[in-house]
Amino acid sequence: MAMPRAEITGWGKYVPTKILTNDDLAKMVDTSDEWITARTGIKERHIRTENDTTTGMACAAARDALAVAGLTPSDLDLIVVANSSPDYLLPASANLVQYELGANCPALTVTAGCSGWVYALVTASQFIQTGAYKNIVVIGVELISYAIDYTDRSTCVLFGDAAAAVILQPGLTEAGIMAFELGSDGQHAHHLMVPGGGTRKPMSQEVVDKREMYIRMNGQEVFKFATRKLITCLNNIAASAGMSPADFDLIIPHQANLRIIEYAADKLHLSMDKFFINLHKYGNTSTASIPLALVEAIQEGRLKSGDVTGMVAFGSGLSWAGAVIKMGEAVNKIAANTEPQGAVVLQ
Ligand SMILES: CC(C)(COP(=O)(O)OP(=O)(O)OC[C@H]1O[C@@H](n2cnc3c(N)ncnc32)[C@H](O)[C@@H]1OP(=O)(O)O)[C@@H](O)C(=O)NCCC(=O)NCCS
Repeated sequence: MAMPRAEITGWGKYVPTKILTNDDLAKMVDTSDEWITARTGIKERHIRTENDTTTGMACAAARDALAVAGLTPSDLDLIVVANSSPDYLLPASANLVQYELGANCPALTVTAGCSGWVYALVTASQFIQTGAYKNIVVIGVELISYAIDYTDRSTCVLFGDAAAAVILQPGLTEAGIMAFELGSDGQHAHHLMVPGGGTRKPMSQEVVDKREMYIRMNGQEVFKFATRKLITCLNNIAASAGMSPADFDLIIPHQANLRIIEYAADKLHLSMDKFFINLHKYGNTSTASIPLALVEAIQEGRLKSGDVTGMVAFGSGLSWAGAVIKMGEAVNKIAANTEPQGAVVLQ
């Protein structure tokens, strides 16, 4: 008997209400709207308010996704949460989300930098394909602003906070995840890392004084890695699905920098119209970036039943992850309840 594909049947998102514009950043560091727009394409990003928590943002996105799929938290067989910005070092994010949602199921946290949500999606889809589980929520949530040094102009202009989620269920048709590629190149991990606060260099006055609890990035090396991986991974996942990147109805790239996407589009001889872009509104929301773009693409009617999308993420690790998804009937029911419900405030 053919194994069912994991189909996306629900989707939801949550972004904090607070907006940090390029002009706001220009008052904090030596930068300008012109520089940020020209070098990244980013105009503004959403940053947590004091009421936003990683768990609360994840649950807000998950509740909307459950509502679209017509499920309740008690229907869930598995919760998978991707992130690099947990409420606590222990417990892992997914356990807090399980409790806050009121679900009674296992909960798994996946950390793979900005590639984390695609890793989580592919992991979750294996449980669907084997028949082990039927209803899974896959959440990407990032409160990455906590790890940003707002005195470092080379990183603070890039990132923003967000959460997004999808429901995976066994597909009754050929819709679902058709192909994927996961990759890791830990040799180059030092190009994008938080050097202090872990076991190698525990939190100390020295770590604080050197601001080593914040993200350090070699922007040019990461840029080169990102363009290379966006191109090769798109080619690879398309080939695995028996297609070429030109056959995708929509490409959802990691929303890190418009120039990375433009470079890849040019090399692949593809029109920029094929690429979904929302980075001007949100910046790089790390592991929430791909699901946030996917959810908005569905909500804006850019993905219809039968459409095939190729998505590629890349980030710290260095890591990358791509997937090809055929959309099912569910995307035709773009209901009013896809609007975000608002974040949960934890007591
Ligand atoms: C970070 C990034 C935008 C920098 O753009 P760039 O064109 O490579 O710029 P450079 O690093 O070469 O710096 C050029 C100049 O701009 C300056 N600069 C850096 N950030 C600046 C800012 N926010 N505002 C103004 N000037 C800035 C640099 O100091 C440098 O000045 P100098 O020539 O006097 O030394 C770009 O490298 C990038 O996007 N890299 C990938 C990052 C990424 O996607 N990370 C996440 C992956 S998940």
